[in-house]
Amino acid sequence: MKRDFLMVRDFSTEEIHEAFDIAIDMKKDRKKYSKALEGETLALIFEKPSLRTRTTFDVGIQQLGGYSLYLSPAEISLGKRESVYDVAKNLERMVQGIMIRTFGHNIVEDMAKYAKIPIINGLTDYSHPCQAMADFLTIKEVKGKLEGLKLCYVGDGNNVAHSLMDAGARLGVNVTIVCPRGFEPNMIAYNQAVEDAKLTGAKIEVTHDPFEGVKGADAVYTDVWASMGQESEAVERKRIFMPYQVNSKLMSSAKSDAIFMHCLPAHRGDEVTDEVIDAPNSVVFQEAENRLHAQKAIIYKLMK
Ligand code: CP
Ligand code: NVA
Repeated sequence: MKRDFLMVRDFSTEEIHEAFDIAIDMKKDRKKYSKALEGETLALIFEKPSLRTRTTFDVGIQQLGGYSLYLSPAEISLGKRESVYDVAKNLERMVQGIMIRTFGHNIVEDMAKYAKIPIINGLTDYSHPCQAMADFLTIKEVKGKLEGLKLCYVGDGNNVAHSLMDAGARLGVNVTIVCPRGFEPNMIAYNQAVEDAKLTGAKIEVTHDPFEGVKGADAVYTDVWASMGQESEAVERKRIFMPYQVNSKLMSSAKSDAIFMHCLPAHRGDEVTDEVIDAPNSVVFQEAENRLHAQKAIIYKLMK
């Protein structure tokens, strides 16, 4: 039975911890896994830009002994030049796994339904599960544990927020989303997280007051106010989101040893100030590096 990774909740709590253990082992000793996926090819379909996702999947599969195949937006044009079904039925005969970054989440779900090979979600408008895996791996490295910690995400209730709730629920980490009214996370994503959290005791909540929200937080997280595809809303969003900027004043409401997190790319001066993102407690580049290790563990688990 092939497995896909479209949401963090596609893995059980035990499977996520197992993936973290593999990732930590891979990070310690890159050479140990250099033949783990020898000769296997992972196709990388991108319908949106990327620095981290592109680099880490590309380098990651090569470090495991495999090959990557980059397919740019201009090349495939999913659903326009060719149907998602036909793309899936072609690629499953040529490669052993597919990572997709696209707009509609239904596209990755359809791809997973049609293809006989593992499908990995490299970001949709709905979720960014590989990012959340790297983020919680980072928290585990820095704090030495996960269960019972509090992560406060300040900003748009977007794909990244959804995956943080998803992962927090699975891992017993309390997740508070603080957003302006009208920019709350999707209700389905929230309800699923609340449901999953019953198994781990995590508290998942959505509030609107940034200073109240970050109180007692072990990690404060933010993301861009206008995601890829929302560029035309950027000016209006900037006005609405400015009170939600993560600056030193807001950080001082969190625990004194709180870390600052961001999936990147960051719009410095908007959702986060230079002072916060460049502070010693900012772990943004460790998160970026951990995309490599976490995703190597994910592709190893799915493609081995
Ligand atoms: N965080 C992240 O996914 O970065 P890219 O958009 O550069 O891949
Ligand atoms: N929410 C952002 C995340 C980028 C990694 C976006 O979708 O553009």
